Amino acid sequence: MRLHEGDEIEAVFSQRDLHFVRVNAEEHFLSRLAGVTEPERKRKIIGEEFIRVFEEEARKIGAVDFLAQGTIYPDVIESGRGDAAVIKSHHNVGGLPDTVDFKEILEPLRLLFKDEVRQLGRELGLPEALVSRQPFPGPGLGIRVIGEVTREKLDLLREADAIFRDEMAHAGLAESSGQYFAALTNMRSVGVMGDGRSYDYAVALRSVQTSDFMTADWSRLPYELLDRVSVRIVNEVRGVNRVLYDITSKPPATVEYE
Ligand code: XMP
Repeated sequence: MRLHEGDEIEAVFSQRDLHFVRVNAEEHFLSRLAGVTEPERKRKIIGEEFIRVFEEEARKIGAVDFLAQGTIYPDVIESGRGDAAVIKSHHNVGGLPDTVDFKEILEPLRLLFKDEVRQLGRELGLPEALVSRQPFPGPGLGIRVIGEVTREKLDLLREADAIFRDEMAHAGLAESSGQYFAALTNMRSVGVMGDGRSYDYAVALRSVQTSDFMTADWSRLPYELLDRVSVRIVNEVRGVNRVLYDITSKPPATVEYE
């Protein structure tokens, strides 16, 4: 998720020789997601809004025939194409609306797994930092906030995730984890803060080792690191009084929570 995901992306692409437009569509997404808790419903709404934002921007430019997106093979499989069961509707496949304003959607990476996409990136001479960057799911934090998504919950999650990232980097483990992040569970529990009672959210930390993202093993992170992250999150993030570490592999769990 990262505290500054948008800034990082802008920094990479605005230096390239292309017409880069950054759009802040937070309001759009939040108002459409208000009150929605069912994971597939959330994914469908995010998938549709995603396209509508592109359509709106395209109209500002003029006639735009093509939309290119970075769909990869796991997105297609998990969205239940062919005989496969729907595991989750990836925003760019199963979450796409039936009609879109573009003549064609271009997906040059559609048949590749993530490790193959990275190999291709290296062949093309893209910077290593970009190629080995942590994946960030298209539906964003919407699928890392379990249950209803609100701005307050997103802010809280961003802070917790930034602490996790910070400590992983300090421990020199950021590069060796396939993907790691914090998620905000929908569970609140009783705690004690100073002399008083608290009734706050539990943050879940997740880190996995994987190359193709179709299967993943949970990372055996050092206890000392987990301890530092936990202490910092409960001390620094208001509204969180419990930190959990996810020790489930994929399958049977998935990498993301929704
Ligand atoms: P799961 O949760 O399916 O995640 O085990 C596997 C990988 O896919 C990413 N992911 C997505 N990426 N659109 C994307 O672009 C999506 O809708 C989506 N859902 C999950 C996830 O972050 C992980 O890397």
